[in-house]
Amino acid sequence: MKELALHILDLAQNSITAGADLIKLTINESLKNDILSITIEDNGCGMDVTQAEKVKDPFVTSRTSRKVGLGIPLMLAACQRCEGNLSIESQKNVGTKLIATFKHSHIDRAPMGNMAETIGCLIIGSENIDFVYVHIIDQEEFCLDTREIRQTLGAEVPLSEPDVLDWIKNYINEGLSNLRGGVI
Ligand SMILES: Nc1ncnc2c1ncn2[C@@H]1O[C@H](COP(=O)(O)OP(=O)(O)OP(=O)(O)O)[C@@H](O)[C@H]1O
Ligand SMILES: [Mg+2]
Repeated sequence: MKELALHILDLAQNSITAGADLIKLTINESLKNDILSITIEDNGCGMDVTQAEKVKDPFVTSRTSRKVGLGIPLMLAACQRCEGNLSIESQKNVGTKLIATFKHSHIDRAPMGNMAETIGCLIIGSENIDFVYVHIIDQEEFCLDTREIRQTLGAEVPLSEPDVLDWIKNYINEGLSNLRGGVI
């Protein structure tokens, strides 16, 4: 895939399918250590040990529409191309944590892509799910927590309301731009 954000969208979709109502995404860019890590954590249905070990194989899926599941194998391949790896910790009825790592400066590492649009798509697609998005670049940290936004807005205003969504996307774009020292 051309952008890491597209992998993230795909893997967050797994968490949504797993029935999660809280999804935490942490992107940690350590320029100092030349490592980029993406962690996606959910409180969905989880997997047992055997299933969690098998999902890196494209022929393992709980889909009924086709026999291959590509989200995890594609992310794994992207990590391995960049001297990184993918680990999955999961517990049945508790949740799943997926950690993907890359060598930050690797020539084959896809660019981050548009995180504001990605979070926007996730919010539109799943009104009742809360998202926590933390993005760290070296010592600086940006955080968006939809639970806090809901609290401020009150129960009657949905996050998918166009004005709210625009505000969220701008907030992310500004936050990330500040992390990168004003460079978008
Ligand atoms: N967060 C998760 N919680 C519970 N089960 C998961 C989670 N992520 C993946 N799985 C299980 O692993 C399988 C493989 O996931 P993967 O994303 O590779 O393929 P898929 O979702 O089945 O298909 P595709 O991503 O191509 O649409 C899923 O079908 C599901 O059973
Ligand atoms: Mg998938």
